[in-house]
Amino acid sequence: MVSVLDIDTLLGDPQTRIIVCCGAGGVGKTTTAAALGLRAAEAGRRVVVLTIDPARRLAQSLGLTTLDNTPRPVKDIKNTDGGSLDAMMLDMKRTFDEVVEAHSTPEKAEQILANPFYQAVSSSFAGTQEYMAMEKLGQLRLEADRDPDNPRWDLIVVDTPPSRSALDFLDAPKRLGSFLDGRFIRLLAAPAKAGGRAYLKVFSAGVNIVTRTLTKVLGGQMLSDVQTFVAAFDTMFGGFRKRADHTYALLSDRTTTFIVVAAPERDALREASYFVDRLDEEEMPLAGLVINRMYRVSAPGLSAARALGAAEELGDEESDSSSAITQGLLRMHAIQAEIADRHESLARRFIAGHPGIPMVEVPAASGDIHDLVGLRAVGNALAGH
Ligand SMILES: Nc1ncnc2c1ncn2[C@@H]1O[C@H](COP(=O)(O)OP(=O)(O)OP(=O)(O)O)[C@@H](O)[C@H]1O
Ligand SMILES: [Mg+2]
Repeated sequence: MVSVLDIDTLLGDPQTRIIVCCGAGGVGKTTTAAALGLRAAEAGRRVVVLTIDPARRLAQSLGLTTLDNTPRPVKDIKNTDGGSLDAMMLDMKRTFDEVVEAHSTPEKAEQILANPFYQAVSSSFAGTQEYMAMEKLGQLRLEADRDPDNPRWDLIVVDTPPSRSALDFLDAPKRLGSFLDGRFIRLLAAPAKAGGRAYLKVFSAGVNIVTRTLTKVLGGQMLSDVQTFVAAFDTMFGGFRKRADHTYALLSDRTTTFIVVAAPERDALREASYFVDRLDEEEMPLAGLVINRMYRVSAPGLSAARALGAAEELGDEESDSSSAITQGLLRMHAIQAEIADRHESLARRFIAGHPGIPMVEVPAASGDIHDLVGLRAVGNALAGH
C-alpha cells in the first residue's frame, strides 16, 4: 500500500515553517525547492527559498542575477492571496564572512578576513558549503521572526548542496566545529604559546595530510598567518559551536520537515534510503519522498515487447516510407517503455523496502525546468495533479 505525500496539506499547514529538500547530486533538489516555494506562495504563504547554485536560467527566472546573499522578491507570482515569494542564492564565502563579523570586533574581523588561512578554509574546506547553508537558514529564521506578530516569511524552503555523501549538511556544523576546536588547530596554535623551535618540533611531529595540503596551497607564508588567524579566531570558537548546536536544534524542531528527493536510479535511491534512515536516527521529521524525473510513455498500454514485435513484422513487408516511419516510432516507443518499466520497478522496490513512507512521483519533463511555468508544472505534479 503506497502512502501518498500530500504536498498541499504540508504547504498549507502554518505549523510547517521550514522545509529542507535533500537528496543525492543532480536529482532535482533545487528544482523541487523552487517549485515548492512557488506553489506555497501562490497558495498564500509568505515564502523565502534559499537556493544553492541554481542553474543559470532558473536563477534568472527567479530574478537572481547577482550572488549577494540577499532574498529578493520573485516577480510574476499569480493569485497570491496575500502570499509572496522571495528567493536567494547562497554566497558561501560571504556567509562565512558575516559569521566572523558577527562574532568579533571590527578590528579582529578585519584581521581574520584578510588572513590567507581563513580564506582557504572559508572557500574550500570540505563541508563549508553545507555549514554555511545551515548557518544561512538560522539567519533567515531569525530574520523571519524579527517581528513575531508580522513575520516577514512564514515558510522557508531550503535547498541543500550537492554533497558527496548524504546528509553532509547535518554533519557539517559538527565537523567544522571539531575542526576548529580540534587537534589540528591546537597544534597550529601551539607557537603562540610555546614559541619558535619548540613549536616547529611539535608541528613537524604532528604534520598530517591536512597541513601538508594547506602548506602547499598557502606556501611559506602559512605559519605566521596561521598564528594570527588562530589567535584572532580563538575568541570565536565558543560562538561557532553554539551556533552549530542551535542549527541542529532548528532542524530537529517540529516546525521543520524534510523532503528527500531521488531520481529513479539505483544510486540515487540508495542514497535516499540512507537519508531516510539517517533522518530517522536523528529523530528529524521526514515529510516524504519525491521520485523526480519518472519516465512515462504516452501509450502505456503498449508494452515494449509488443511494440518491438509489431516493428519487426512491419520490417518483413515491402517497406514504404510510411511503414518505415511507423517502424521507427514503434522502436522508439519500445525503448521508452523499457525505461518507464525500469523506473516503475525501481520505485516499487523502494516502496517495498520502506513501507509507509509518503511518496509522490514527478514525471520527467521534455526539457530542463528553467522558468515559473516549468516550476508550476512540477508543483502540480508534486501535489498529485
Ligand atoms: N522533472 C524534471 N523534468 C525534467 N528536468 C528536470 C526535472 N527536474 C529537474 N530537472 C532538471 O535536471 C537538472 C538538475 O536539477 P536540479 O538542479 O534541481 O538538481 P539538484 O539536485 O539541485 O542538483 P545538484 O545536486 O547539482 O545541486 C536541471 O537542469 C533541471 O532543470
Ligand atoms: Mg542544486
